[in-house]
Amino acid sequence: MQNEQSIAFIIFGITGDLAYRKLIPSLYTLIKEERIPAPLKVIGFARRDWSDEPLRQRMREAVSESLDGREIDTAALETLVAPACYVRSSFEEPQGYQHLEAVLDELHPIHRLFYLAAPPDEYPVIIEQIGQARLANCSGAWTRIVIEKPYGRDLASAMALDEKVHRVFKEEQIYRIDHYLGKNTVQNILVFRFANGIFEPLWNRNYVDHIQITVAESSGVGIRADYYETAGVVRDMFQNHLLQLVALTAMEAPWAFQADAVRDEKLKVLQSLRPLRGEDALKNTFRAQYGPGVVDSVSVPGYLEEPGVAPNSTTETLLSARLLVDNWRWAGVPFFLRSGKRLGRRVTEIMIQFLQVPLPLFGWRNMAGEAPNRLVLHLQPGEGITLTFGAKAPGTENQIEPVKMVFDYRDTFGVQPPSAYEVLLLDVMEGDASLFTRSDEVQAAWAFTEPIIQAWESQRLERLPQYPAGTWGPPEMDAFIQRSFPERIECAWRQL
Ligand code: BG6
Repeated sequence: MQNEQSIAFIIFGITGDLAYRKLIPSLYTLIKEERIPAPLKVIGFARRDWSDEPLRQRMREAVSESLDGREIDTAALETLVAPACYVRSSFEEPQGYQHLEAVLDELHPIHRLFYLAAPPDEYPVIIEQIGQARLANCSGAWTRIVIEKPYGRDLASAMALDEKVHRVFKEEQIYRIDHYLGKNTVQNILVFRFANGIFEPLWNRNYVDHIQITVAESSGVGIRADYYETAGVVRDMFQNHLLQLVALTAMEAPWAFQADAVRDEKLKVLQSLRPLRGEDALKNTFRAQYGPGVVDSVSVPGYLEEPGVAPNSTTETLLSARLLVDNWRWAGVPFFLRSGKRLGRRVTEIMIQFLQVPLPLFGWRNMAGEAPNRLVLHLQPGEGITLTFGAKAPGTENQIEPVKMVFDYRDTFGVQPPSAYEVLLLDVMEGDASLFTRSDEVQAAWAFTEPIIQAWESQRLERLPQYPAGTWGPPEMDAFIQRSFPERIECAWRQL
């Protein structure tokens, strides 16, 4: 324990899915592993008609469900749950914030961590009310605010949100969370690239044919249709997680491993993305929606049948896109991105496909075509790195077979890395903003994404291509990647 002053962890929207699935279980693990720097008091703030006891009960359920049968550490659980309390209020009512103030005053001085896990539409009013109640500063203790994605719906609303939040908080108090940055293997992208001498010389247009980034989920929209209908993959995953992965994959080495140095380099990548507007956006993106299908041997409904989804919705649940990073390192190297719900399985990875040899010496079957040189960074569920190269198969003929060098995190280190939320929540409590996005990065990501959304809107489609849940998308998906590469021998999505 570095600092005994308690932390009030105030969760706006504690009754929601995020708090249940991620925040509460992560806090439990941090307490169990004695990594939280100070005693913690969770204060839930939401509209639902709960009080302290139902909140505590719900927290216990959240932890127990996350453990999925593994043994619970009752002492750690009660350390988290017993002090928790609930403020019932709508987000716009000043009385709710007065009540919160009274709770905080009783504990004074106490560090304050405000966590916005409420619906994004509510962020402006919550921030305003925190400001009006003068809760954004506390003498003798720090105050920080964590803002969940989506950070705005477009460039203008992201800028407006920035303006609003800056009226109440200083930039160094603001933590814009993109939980992908808390994933161990996402952080390892930088270590892999910049702590090793052998890969970086190949990491450019002279040796890389193309890059594929996949963030696939087997789950559907679940109970979040209200939000998802207004977001789609483009706002839910692309503008944030996928573009962050592009930035980490493509960025130059920072001058030091420091928050702003890393963010400066990521920003440059986002600014170098070739804009996709109008026809270019339509040609270089593909979207679709899941229909009914079978996932893990269970029949599941299509997106249009999900509760809360409009029967004629054209919200995309699958998106693929071809991006170009217009800088010297990457000129002409396509980055193919795909992300979707209800795909074949949950998998996130970055695949670097290297160029083929200049001259095929061993017949048609070089490490081209069927067996290209590929480096795959596996981000989840398994975490590791695989390099595929050609080896001579036993026998008298020059038969070349693809073989793999495999690094698996768990096998090598024998432990499961901490979850993204554990990493990030701890960072906020310790005041380390390296893994959080800066406002200029968020704005650059919106500046790139917004014209794509506008191009789609101008199409006024009545129906999107459908793919059966549990598959890898409709046939047009394959055509999309193939037609993007007329000049190359072959290009296909990596089979997962
Ligand atoms: C969230 C999205 O940011 O990321 C969800 O809102 C998505 O729709 C989730 O399911 C995926 O995160 P992970 O860590 O499970 O890949």
